[in-house]
Amino acid sequence: MKTLPIVVLISGSGSNLQSIINSIANKTLNAKICAVITNKADAYGLERAKQANIPTEILDHRQYPSREDFDAQLTKIIERYQAELVVLAGFMRILSDGFVAHFYGRMINIHPSLLPKYRGLHTHQRALESGDKVHGLSIHYVSAELDGGPIILQKTVPILADDTEKSLAQRVLVEEHIAYPKVIQWIAQGRLQLIDHKIIMTDNA
Ligand code: GRF
Repeated sequence: MKTLPIVVLISGSGSNLQSIINSIANKTLNAKICAVITNKADAYGLERAKQANIPTEILDHRQYPSREDFDAQLTKIIERYQAELVVLAGFMRILSDGFVAHFYGRMINIHPSLLPKYRGLHTHQRALESGDKVHGLSIHYVSAELDGGPIILQKTVPILADDTEKSLAQRVLVEEHIAYPKVIQWIAQGRLQLIDHKIIMTDNA
């Protein structure tokens, strides 16, 4: 089977990046990470990439006069690696409409809530404060709307009586680490198509 060339964009710890690296290493994911790209020079995920001998790129958004300038440079770098899929894994940047349009259908994101609930930040805290019984994660194609875009997969996580923001985030992360490589593998297998903003999944398993 074909190996899917991907780039992974991060801003922080990169635990999802690690789960992708591990899935490639244990051969449950037919992908190659061409580069890990970050806007934060101190992102711990850079260490994870270096450990796995993956090229890294640091692009400090503060060095660019506008979001569009930053996104234009980011586009150039991504294209240089000839990736077929852009994987956002904790990339804490709002993306310009032009950037999103350019990669539409080729860029996915993981978000720690059951979208459309709790777009944006502090999702675990907001789920707890709302008294929700169930929380979870969503993986979606990226569209111009923040944390919008066609949803590919969701996974629920029960909220326990004694949950804190930290304990809940931790349990959601465990599920993120299973779900994200799985979705990337579906894409590597050519099982997902995006037609008229709707996802069609082929069951060729
Ligand atoms: C994850 O919770 C992900 O859903 C969100 O940002 C966090 C990234 O965590 N988009 P990590 O950097 O992969 O550890």
